Amino acid sequence: MPVAASPRPEVSTAAPIGVFDSGIGGLTVVRALVHELPREGIVYFGDTARVPYGPKSPDTVRRYSREITQLLLARGVKLIVVACNTATAHALTALRDELPVPVVGVVQPGARAAVRASTSGRIGVIGTAGTVASGAYERAIREGAPDATVISQACPLFVPLVEEGWLDGPAVELIAREYLAPLRERTVDALVLGCTHYPLLAPVVARAMGPGVALIDSAVETARETERVLHRHALATTESEQPEHAFLVSDDPERFLALGQRFLGSALERVEQIALD
Ligand code: DGL
Repeated sequence: MPVAASPRPEVSTAAPIGVFDSGIGGLTVVRALVHELPREGIVYFGDTARVPYGPKSPDTVRRYSREITQLLLARGVKLIVVACNTATAHALTALRDELPVPVVGVVQPGARAAVRASTSGRIGVIGTAGTVASGAYERAIREGAPDATVISQACPLFVPLVEEGWLDGPAVELIAREYLAPLRERTVDALVLGCTHYPLLAPVVARAMGPGVALIDSAVETARETERVLHRHALATTESEQPEHAFLVSDDPERFLALGQRFLGSALERVEQIALD
């Protein structure tokens, strides 16, 4: 049995988990975290002033991610979850090298779940242009299944459709069928929803793919991975009181408040706007 690493002396198990995303979509990960780890406090940062990250260069996404993680560390977090697939793809390695707390991304947990779910070894990945171009999911899937065939497809219109609340209807069904045709033709049997927004389109994606395709929601897998990492570092909370959840954004909190429920599954009570310096 491996011996659990000790926490850094200055980090309290009562400290919150830091979570960040380019905007609102990371609330799908918060929702899974709250479900899997109901005793843990959370500080969430959504970079609503600079969303989307999907089309931005790796250097820019890394710079943004560094700025946000410094802010979360200043708030005393004990672990950071990179809830954004694009930020995970471009910045996870750098953040893990540089930060004094454990960092969990969304790509590896999703990739592992896809490997488990696939019997044919033909796995599809959908994500933003940045995530797909980075090849991060392919690499992570091949770690678990070196012979897997991975077919990736960027679906850039999915993010604005979800933001606008277009979760079904003829237009979104048509776009999904167009995007997903190459994956359907190559008969994948597992499909990673490799973007924070895509779990909200799961029913549309399932219809476009047809039966027999397992859809992998990285959010749930990431929450389980977070639990394992907390225990491995002896950082799981021992508090029994109701934890606090704080929501911070870099632009107008009103839109975040209005849309948040769709992603979080419950109402957001308070969102604070703060400047990143
Ligand atoms: N959060 C991003 C992701 O999961 C999607 C939105 C964006 O492009 O910033 O990749």
